[in-house]
Amino acid sequence: MDVASLRAALPVLERTAYLNAGTCGPLPAAAGDAVREALAEAERGGRAMEHFTALVAEVQGLRERYARLVGAAPADVALTTSTTDGIARVLGALAWRSDDEIVIAEGEHPGLQGPVAALARRVGVGVRGAPLERIAEAVSDRTRLVACSHVRWSDGALAPLDALAALPPSVPVLLDGAQGAGAIPVDVAALPCAFYAAPGQKWLCGPVGTGFLWISPAWHGRLEPAFPGYVNLEDPGEGLGARPWPDARAHDASALARETLLAARVAFDLLDGHGWPRVHERAARLAGDLAARLAEAGRHVAPRAPTTLVSWREADPVATVARLRAADVVVRDLPGTDLVRASVGAWSDEDDLDRLLRALP
Ligand SMILES: Cc1ncc(COP(=O)(O)O)c(C=O)c1O
Repeated sequence: MDVASLRAALPVLERTAYLNAGTCGPLPAAAGDAVREALAEAERGGRAMEHFTALVAEVQGLRERYARLVGAAPADVALTTSTTDGIARVLGALAWRSDDEIVIAEGEHPGLQGPVAALARRVGVGVRGAPLERIAEAVSDRTRLVACSHVRWSDGALAPLDALAALPPSVPVLLDGAQGAGAIPVDVAALPCAFYAAPGQKWLCGPVGTGFLWISPAWHGRLEPAFPGYVNLEDPGEGLGARPWPDARAHDASALARETLLAARVAFDLLDGHGWPRVHERAARLAGDLAARLAEAGRHVAPRAPTTLVSWREADPVATVARLRAADVVVRDLPGTDLVRASVGAWSDEDDLDRLLRALP
C-alpha cells in the first residue's frame, strides 16, 4: 500500500501525530475542496432542480459505497447523520410494549445509552445491563432487543459474536459499529445482527453529519419508520396516503446536504482506492505494535482485540492528553476511567507511534 500518498492526502498528518479517528478521522484535502466547490456552485448557480438531481445521485452513490464496504445490498442501507442517529432510528421504528426489555452492554458509549434511556422513559421498557463478554446470557423471555458495540469504544474489545449468533431470531441484535466500519472488516451477512449503525466521520474520514444504518432484509417489513419525511416516501404526491419506501430508504435522514455527501464520497474513495483489506490489515497491525510497545514501556494496556483502538492506564489521563497535545500528538482520555485511547489508522506510521511514546510522562 502506498502509505506516503495516503498520508499526503491528509493534511493534518503533516505536523500532527493524529491518533484520534475513534472521534473523527483525518479529513482529506480533496474532501474540503469538494465542499468548497459544491458551495461555490450553489452560490453562483442557485439551488434549483439540478441541485436536487445532483443531491439524489450523491445519496445513491454514497449508499452504494457504504453497502459495498459491509457486503450489503444498497437497498438495505439507510443514510444517516451519525451512529447515534442510526441507533435512534432503529429504536424508534420497532414496536414496543412497556413490559419489553432491552439488554445493553455495560459501559457503552452515550451515543447508544442515550437513545435506549430515552426509550425507557418514553415507553417504559425495561433496560438490563450486562458485561459485554456475557451479554447473551442476560437475555430473558422479555428481551426484544440486544444492543452493544461491535468494537467497544473504551478498549477495542470485540462483541462476543458466537454467543450473539446463538440467540433466537426473535431477539434481534443492534450493533453499534462506530469503531467497526472502516476500521476492521465488516461483513453484515456474517455478523449476528439485524441492525448495524455506523458513522461516516470516524474511520471513513468523512465529514461530521454522515453515517449509515444497515437493516437486515428480514426486518424491513417489521419496522415503522420513526421520522418519515418526503424523501422517505415512495410517492410523496399521494399525500396522507403516501407509503414509505419498502426498503432502507424509508429510514434515510431527511436533510442530507449535497456538499457533505460529496465530501464523504471523496473521503471514501480515497481509502477505497488503497484497498480495504490493506487499509484494515495495516491499521490493526500498527495498533498491535503500539499496544506491545506501550506494554514494553511499562504501561498497563487494557485487554483488547485485534482492532484499531489501544487504551492504557495513566495516573492523570487529562494531563497526559494535554501533554501529548502540546507535542502535537492527538489522543483522547475517556471520562470516568483512568484510560487514554489512541486510534491507529492505515494512515498512521511508525513515526507517529514513536512520537506518542516519546511524549508520554
Ligand atoms: C461506540 C460508539 N458509539 C457511538 C458513538 C457516537 O458516534 P456518532 O457521533 O457517530 O453518533 C461513538 C463515538 O463517538 C462510539 O465510539
